[in-house]
Amino acid sequence: MHPILTNAVKAARRAGSIINRASQDVGALKIQTKTYNDFVTEVDQAAERAIIEVLRDAYPDHGFLGEESGHDRTDAENVWIIDPLDGTTNFLHGFPQYSISIALMQKGVLTQAVVYDPNRNDLFTATRGRGAFLNDKRIRVSNRSKLQDSMIGTGFPFRDFSHLDTYLAMFKDMVKKSSGIRRPGSAALDLAYVAAGWFDGFWEIGLSKWDIAAGALLIQEAGGIVGDFEGNEEWINSGNIVAGNPKVFAQMLQTLAPHLTDTLKTKPAV
Ligand code: IPD
Ligand code: CA
Ligand code: CA
Repeated sequence: MHPILTNAVKAARRAGSIINRASQDVGALKIQTKTYNDFVTEVDQAAERAIIEVLRDAYPDHGFLGEESGHDRTDAENVWIIDPLDGTTNFLHGFPQYSISIALMQKGVLTQAVVYDPNRNDLFTATRGRGAFLNDKRIRVSNRSKLQDSMIGTGFPFRDFSHLDTYLAMFKDMVKKSSGIRRPGSAALDLAYVAAGWFDGFWEIGLSKWDIAAGALLIQEAGGIVGDFEGNEEWINSGNIVAGNPKVFAQMLQTLAPHLTDTLKTKPAV
């Protein structure tokens, strides 16, 4: 394993034990509401602190973009992008589907990725150019060639409803054109499932960098494609993301195309 990835895994496992311990008694947690339907607990915060501590110890000059602590030297050459608990709503309900997502961006390029599911002890990892792995076993995207036979992951809008009607129209079309849709509730893990070939594709509107950075590199290293709704590279900035094996990816873009409003089309980075 690449030495930098080893440190990222150490950080993810440390966060995983904090989350596992807290999951024994979620009723006792203090919950704050950031915005409508956006919750944060002391567990999210403690897990992020633990991750940053491990990584800052190893790499004092690296920057951090963490969901809970915000920007710290994000203009550095190396920036860690962290979601310490992806799927907080699931976690709060005791629904065992959530993950820790850690990615390293070096000079604007994603190079290392860890998505860790502490419930199943599933560790998904990738280093650019070296493939993607689940618990040390190489993974690849599925080779299903028709959207009609595919199982597709997604996320429903639940905080910001400005694209709800558009999303529902996309959903309706995708229901008719695929063999099934799932909404597990942790985008990072959903993307890892595309990398593992468990999902043939995935789409969601308006995710954040920390939801998708690690999962996207997993998919690329597993032979899949990640794009925005027009298939371009802007997904990391817009958070509008489509991913899948190459054949299903193309058919998903075709399915979504008639529903794209101007705001969902590719905007050049400013
Ligand atoms: C959320 C999860 C969810 C997705 C949301 C994300 P959080 O992350 O990834 O699956 O639909 O858009 O914000 O808030 O639980 O870290
Ligand atoms: Ca998240
Ligand atoms: Ca989170």
